[in-house]
Amino acid sequence: MPRAHALLLESIHVSAHEELTRSGVAVHTHNGGMVDTQLIEALRALPGDVPLMVGIRSKTRVTAAVFEAEPRLVALGAFCIGTDQIDLAAARRAGVVVFNAPFSNTRSVAELVLGEIIMLSRQIFPRSQACHRGEWRKSATGSHEVRGKTVGIVGYGHIGSQLSVIAESLGMSVIYHDIVPKLPLGNARPAESLEALLRESDFVTLHVPDTEFTRGMIGAGEIACMRKGAYLINASRGKVVDIPALRAALDEERLAGAAIDVYPVEPAHPGEPFVSELRGLDQVILTPHIGGSTEEAQASIGREVSTALGTYLLHGSTTGSVNLPNIDVAPLREGGCRIINVHRNVPGVLSAVNRAVAESEVNVTGQSLGTIEDVGLLIVDLALGGEDPKARELCHAIAGLPTSLRTRIL
Ligand code: NAI
Repeated sequence: MPRAHALLLESIHVSAHEELTRSGVAVHTHNGGMVDTQLIEALRALPGDVPLMVGIRSKTRVTAAVFEAEPRLVALGAFCIGTDQIDLAAARRAGVVVFNAPFSNTRSVAELVLGEIIMLSRQIFPRSQACHRGEWRKSATGSHEVRGKTVGIVGYGHIGSQLSVIAESLGMSVIYHDIVPKLPLGNARPAESLEALLRESDFVTLHVPDTEFTRGMIGAGEIACMRKGAYLINASRGKVVDIPALRAALDEERLAGAAIDVYPVEPAHPGEPFVSELRGLDQVILTPHIGGSTEEAQASIGREVSTALGTYLLHGSTTGSVNLPNIDVAPLREGGCRIINVHRNVPGVLSAVNRAVAESEVNVTGQSLGTIEDVGLLIVDLALGGEDPKARELCHAIAGLPTSLRTRIL
């Protein structure tokens, strides 16, 4: 019998199957997405009294109905970056852990930005387009090496710091601005302020999240601070840059060019037209939000999320979960077992659990508790094998407490 069943939708990368199979999970696949009712039916059809897991990408919306309908469902993997398609609060209230893959495409974005820095600096796109039209625009004017130039990185997180390392390897000087203090990698140094970064950089590249503080953070005033002939790159989130202000700076040739991967409004599907004020400018590289879209990133997402699912299944660790307390526990001791209990976070839960433990007369070897809003996660290690009737009875007693949401024994 498998340890669990996983239903993977939306053609999730094969690396996920391999990783889950290694954890003893029976993997079932479905190429497209599913609506709630289909998903509930598909989960119900999975056999046995073992935990269930679901893997989705961005197309499948998972609502409260799914979490409430299937008590065997313990975990959901979002094999993508965003989790907007999931009712995370409902998952939390049902005790279902959700994992995503926020960093699997970091390298892909950093490489794209580095490529764009070189392409912009050498005017590759307008010259290539000219060649396609049969024109021979051979000239050194306006083309530069990137060695010795300054790249200003706004947002020195995973992508920003990765870019910092590879830009330095080309001989670029790196400065950065972040709202939290960050360790400078290599010879990079923090700029005194955003304004100082804008004034000093030949290339300004944005790697901040979409927050109320970053929306519109690069507007007319900030663009006016940039060096004449500098370049702006945005592969972060579309609303960070004021596009009309950017267009004006490009029209007036205050900026030499830009590379934009993300937009305030993006087509929802490939058939929908792409509308942008930046279309038609040959010094602007426009890409369709593909910064993180590589086969390597897809494979990495498959591994990252399924490793998190497997670790939760085998050990109970929730590190990286987006909706339950993050608890990192060591693998189970030989001859011991572990009860994983997700419960409503109300007064008296721990004493009720500990009463059940005391009544069972089982020795506890470790206990971890974490809470988040209205839900708590309790991990109890026992000095008994998981097949021992006393351990099973105790698990049953804890599962039966009115506060318990999801309880299982490893
Ligand atoms: P991260 O969370 O690792 O780093 C973001 C950094 O921005 C953090 O260091 C944070 O402190 C900093 N920050 C936040 N607010 C700031 C502000 N107001 N001013 C200055 N710094 C600020 O995120 P990661 O993984 O590096 O991603 C960065 C961005 O790239 C995100 O918006 C993400 O959505 C986007 N992204 C785009 C992709 C694409 O396909 N184009 C693919 C992957 C990520």
